[in-house]
Amino acid sequence: MVKIGIVGAGNVGATAALYAAQKELGDIALIDVVDGIPQGKGLDMMEAGPVLGYDSAIEGSNDFAALEDAALVVVTAGLARKPGMDRLDLLKKNAEIITSVTENIVKYAPDSQILMVSNPLDVMTYIALKVSGFGRKRVYGQAGVLDCARYRSFVAMELGVSMEDTQAIILGGHGDTMVPIPRYTTVSGIPITELLPREAIDRIVQRTRDGGAEIVNYLKTGSAYYAPAASVVQMVESVLKGKNRVLPASVMLQGEYGLRDVCVGVPVKLGSAGIEEVIELALSDDERAALHASASVYQESLDELGI
Ligand code: 2OP
Repeated sequence: MVKIGIVGAGNVGATAALYAAQKELGDIALIDVVDGIPQGKGLDMMEAGPVLGYDSAIEGSNDFAALEDAALVVVTAGLARKPGMDRLDLLKKNAEIITSVTENIVKYAPDSQILMVSNPLDVMTYIALKVSGFGRKRVYGQAGVLDCARYRSFVAMELGVSMEDTQAIILGGHGDTMVPIPRYTTVSGIPITELLPREAIDRIVQRTRDGGAEIVNYLKTGSAYYAPAASVVQMVESVLKGKNRVLPASVMLQGEYGLRDVCVGVPVKLGSAGIEEVIELALSDDERAALHASASVYQESLDELGI
């Protein structure tokens, strides 16, 4: 089987490993700096194989050499904010971690693609892109699939329809400035603007923006991982099976949407080569202004880091 690297064996990384194994998308190298955690979780997942019916091997390791020959490396490593740390401290710390992780990916899996999951997502995607030199087709971030999953689930709950029949488009960064596009959000092709009053759509859009915080508020000591991991695996599957799914991804823009040299979420065609195509939608003036405002937040973070 092809090898999938997952860096970070916390809740998102380990859950993504399990979902990927259940779909037999490949063998998995699960890497973490904490001794015993990737080894223990990896072995536990191997032992679930006979019952759940999969033959993916899951190898836990503290050594990046385990990434050798990986086709795709999912990066979930990074710190959560600790007391006394401000946003910029966290940004700097995670920028250091992602720089070092990316250098190791280049060393051990030079032909791989990188799927970034660490926060702040759009900034970390940019750093991995610059440090790796892999080019924008091979370095992209997961956040839009998660944001759309939340949006879709809220639409399904509001209307009492199947989750599967909902589709959504969200542009922009993974944060308060994300830009849901209700006119492109549908139930089996019917725009939700035909199915829901404005007030309900506004409420759902706001809940989607606050989706990560809603889970943190419940969990108190951690953040979401089932929906984030499921979203990662949908992207991994599209790449490894060459499905060319049209999904939102954080990608370096090179003039599309009037933006350049910044990573934010836009719809892409995701296939064997990674970003096969960036899909540029015609936006209204308001939508375009919201997307530019979102991008400028991430541009400021890059400026603060001096990148
Ligand atoms: C989320 O949206 C924290 O980015 C993470 O759940």
